[in-house]
Amino acid sequence: MDKETPEAKYWGDSGKSGMPGDWPGGGGGGKGTPVLNEIRFWTRIMKEHAMFIAAGLPCDRPDLIRTAKEFEARFADLEAKTLRANTVTPSLVRELREAVSDLIEFKYDLLRMMLECQLRPNLFPLLIDHITREAVHFLALLDMVCETHHGDDHHLRMLLSRVVFWIRIMKEHIEFVIHLLDPSERSLINQAQELRRVFVRLLQTARELESMANARPRFFNSAARFVDEAIARTTELRDFKGAAYELLLMCKLLSAIPSPLLADHIRREADMAIMEMREIREHIPVRKPTCP
Ligand SMILES: [Fe+2]
Ligand SMILES: [Fe+2]
Repeated sequence: MDKETPEAKYWGDSGKSGMPGDWPGGGGGGKGTPVLNEIRFWTRIMKEHAMFIAAGLPCDRPDLIRTAKEFEARFADLEAKTLRANTVTPSLVRELREAVSDLIEFKYDLLRMMLECQLRPNLFPLLIDHITREAVHFLALLDMVCETHHGDDHHLRMLLSRVVFWIRIMKEHIEFVIHLLDPSERSLINQAQELRRVFVRLLQTARELESMANARPRFFNSAARFVDEAIARTTELRDFKGAAYELLLMCKLLSAIPSPLLADHIRREADMAIMEMREIREHIPVRKPTCP
């Protein structure tokens, strides 16, 4: 039993957390709070990161493979705990925070070894950086769950920095897919390159709008319009990933993608991006300007 009295905004099962709600195939079956569902989503993502790392490490590093598999088992246990839970308890958050912090450290260790050419796994350095940023994002969510004071949570700059985070993640997914598709898959590579151009442009604009938000405008109609576009484009990308997953399952796609699970993983992350951006969109103040 936890001694602490849960007072945080996201505690308990009030059902009004201000966070994205359920997600397709989230495994929660509609049980639990939106934030609990989000925690379940990220816990599964962390487990899969450990699986991808274990599969991509060279066989002459059994020590690192063992560590990755231990993380996979640790997050599988935590995932089962989150699925059994009805509410987010302080002890669950504490355990998750510890596991995510340890995983972040492991990912940084791997990346450091790769940058110093002491390790040459079948994993892109940018992929390790990418999955580390996702873990940091999860850790920030866990910190937010614990906080009782939310102060500037809905400040425009903070909202737009989350849009930047997701668009950057989406852009990198396309880049990984382009590099993993067999060169003979010209039609799919062309589609992916077109999507890449779209997301490079979106990322540039998102960063510019994030910077402009420092001026603290009372409303920001252009940013709202931009987030609408980002949601629409991410929906297209989600469908592209979903189609790739189906093709992999049916053995109709030539690639170096190690498992269809990877395509499903990035498809689920696109779903989360869409939901989080919809939530953000609702918090961007929009007004009809008064004419001078
Ligand atoms: Fe991921
Ligand atoms: Fe990702």
